[in-house]
This record gives sequence, structure tokens and C-alpha cells, in this order.
Amino acid sequence: MVIKQLYRAFRPLLFALPPETAHRLVHTGLETVQQTPIEHGFSNQFRVDNDRLQVEEFGQSFDNPIGVAAGFDKNAELPAILGALGFGHVEVGGVTAVSQSGNMRPRMFRLVEDEALINRMGLNNEGADVIGERLSSHRREIDHCGPVGVNIALSESTPTDEAPADYQYTYEQIAEGADYVAVNVSCPNSEGMQDLQQRDSLSRIMDALTNAGAETVLVKLAPELSLSAIEDVIDLVDIFDLDGIITTNTTTERPENLESTKQTERGGLSGAPIEDHATKLVQLVAKRTDVPIIGVGGVSDAAGAYAKIRAGASLVQLYTGLVYQGPTLARDINMGLLQLLEDDGFDSIESAIGADI
Ligand SMILES: Cc1cc2nc3c(=O)[nH]c(=O)nc-3n(C[C@H](O)[C@H](O)[C@H](O)COP(=O)(O)O)c2cc1C
Repeated sequence: MVIKQLYRAFRPLLFALPPETAHRLVHTGLETVQQTPIEHGFSNQFRVDNDRLQVEEFGQSFDNPIGVAAGFDKNAELPAILGALGFGHVEVGGVTAVSQSGNMRPRMFRLVEDEALINRMGLNNEGADVIGERLSSHRREIDHCGPVGVNIALSESTPTDEAPADYQYTYEQIAEGADYVAVNVSCPNSEGMQDLQQRDSLSRIMDALTNAGAETVLVKLAPELSLSAIEDVIDLVDIFDLDGIITTNTTTERPENLESTKQTERGGLSGAPIEDHATKLVQLVAKRTDVPIIGVGGVSDAAGAYAKIRAGASLVQLYTGLVYQGPTLARDINMGLLQLLEDDGFDSIESAIGADI
């Protein structure tokens, strides 16, 4: 495909820029062509239209299982064009109750030798009021591009004991524009946030969201959780009748085989080095619960997405893979998935979910 070759040629130029500048450039480019005839052209090129890829989950229909993970479109500006690039859903955010600028730059690093990123963005976003309004007012334009999830997170300025009210406020602002809400209690770059995964804290947040009438709520886990902590979260998922689990966020751990000198940067590691561990966690969670799982971590090809689906994920998300593989990735994965289903004799993605449990 010409666009794939173009991206290969263009990537060294993009990678010569600081990662956040390159992201900004790509973001601006995508935003510029959104809602123009180019979006329609992308849609024709990149969307793989095949019923075998369809997934019904949370009472919603996903044209294919591949979505964009939280953090790529923090302010919910790109769902339509990401849909046109072939993704079946987009999770926007993380959104916080108040707008925040995040940590000092540089705060995003490429580990090229490892096909990985480290980030300590610190949840920079325009805040729940602005993003909620944007999502509601653009609802019609983004309706055709598949479900839009909103990842909600704790505001930097809010003490952790006031987290329930903070999450509730954010939820109330974005609820109208969200097809599902992902409660992010696993960001490694916000002081004290991962403690919210503990049973009592998470339970108070879920109470607040339930009282606010929240529907379709998922919780996003950190990869470092112990087995007992994962079991606590699964208990809460049952108690509060939550709709799903997203596993996993980036990790503060550094696998021994990393090659890049950037590995010493502080922040969350994503991409190829976390892929296998993330897949194992999908399988571990899937063995313990019946709720749908969104598998995320290191996916950059069809085989990786398929492994997560066979491990128990109904849907798969990615971020870092997009940086390294470029805009044809969703299409390549979806085409590859159709072949893998054929090879294994499955008639649809839904029949392959959990095949390895
Ligand atoms: C720059 C960057 C920003 C991110 N921001 C968020 C965020 O705001 N909320 C969240 O839940 N996850 C965030 N993530 C984590 C991703 O959603 C995903 O869980 C993680 O990167 C692993 O997937 P990947 O290996 O495909 O990138 C971010 C990741 C990156 C690289």
C-alpha cells in the first residue's frame, strides 16, 4: 500500500523531532483533514467492512475489535478521523475535572530500538467542561465512526480522599457524549493515583459514579497489580455490576532486555516490551471474570491483537504501535485478523474470544 511506504519514508523525519512535537504535528494534520473529503477518502481506503470482525459489547456494536487507546486523543478532537483510519472505537482522554497542563517537558520519550515509549505527560487535558461540551456538540459527526469511550482520571489538585466527587463531576460533564466510561485509576504519572485501585478507594469512587447514574463503566488497571489486588478489583466489578475491565496501562517497571538509553527516563513504559505481560494479564483476568475485557499493551500487528483476543479480550486497543507502524495499522490488523480467523476455522472474532482460556 502506497501510504504504508510513504509513512516508512516519512518516519525518520518525524522521529527527528521531539516526540511530543511529532505527535502535535500528526494531530494537527489529522484535525485539518477531518470533516473534509479526505476523511471520506481515508474511510474508503482504511475501513475493513466485514461482518466477521463485528463485536457486540456493552449493548453497542463495534465494526471491528481494534480501538485507539487513551492518551492519543486527550481532548476528544479526533474521533471521526481515527474512525476513518479504520479503528472500530476510540477512547478519548484522560479527562480530569479541571483543565491541567501536565508535567514539564520533555515528558515523552521514544525508545526506538525497543519499539517503545516512556511518558510522564501528567494528564494534560482541557478539562471536563470543555471536553464534555465538545463531545456532545460533535455527537452527530462522530456517530458513524464507532463507539467513543471517555477515560476519566483524578485531577492533580484534588486530594485522593476527595477522588469520588472529582470523578463524579467529570462523569457528569462527559456522560452525554460517552458510549462508555473508563475509570482510570492506573496512571503512573499522577501522585497517589494508583492507590485508588485499592478496594476501599475504588469502592467509594464506584459508589459516587453509581449514584450519579453512570451506565457502561469500565475500570482500567495497572500492569503491576498483585494477584490479590486484581481479585479485589474483580470483586468490585461484580458488586457494582461494572461493564468491563481494561488491562493494562503503562508500566513503571523496566524489563531487563530494554536496549535504548532512554530507559532511565521516569514514567510509564508502553509498546513492544509490555506486550506479552499485558496478554498474560488479559488471560488471568478472563479466567476469573465473565465481564468483557479490553486488552491493551504493545499491540502492533494482527498476531498480537489476535493473541489478546484468544486470551479473552473482546476488544483490543493500541497507542505506541500507531507511532511505529503508522496510519495503515488498523487496516493491516483487521485484514490480518480475517486471515487468522480463516486459518483457525473461526467464523467470527466473537467465536475466537477466549479460545486460549
Ligand atoms: C503518551 C501517552 C499518553 C497516555 N495517556 C493515557 C491517559 O491519559 N489515560 C490512560 O488511561 N492511559 C494513557 N496511556 C496509556 C495507553 O492508553 C495504553 O494503556 C498504554 O500505552 C499501553 O498500550 P500501547 O503499548 O499500545 O501504547 C497513555 C500512553 C501514552 C504512550
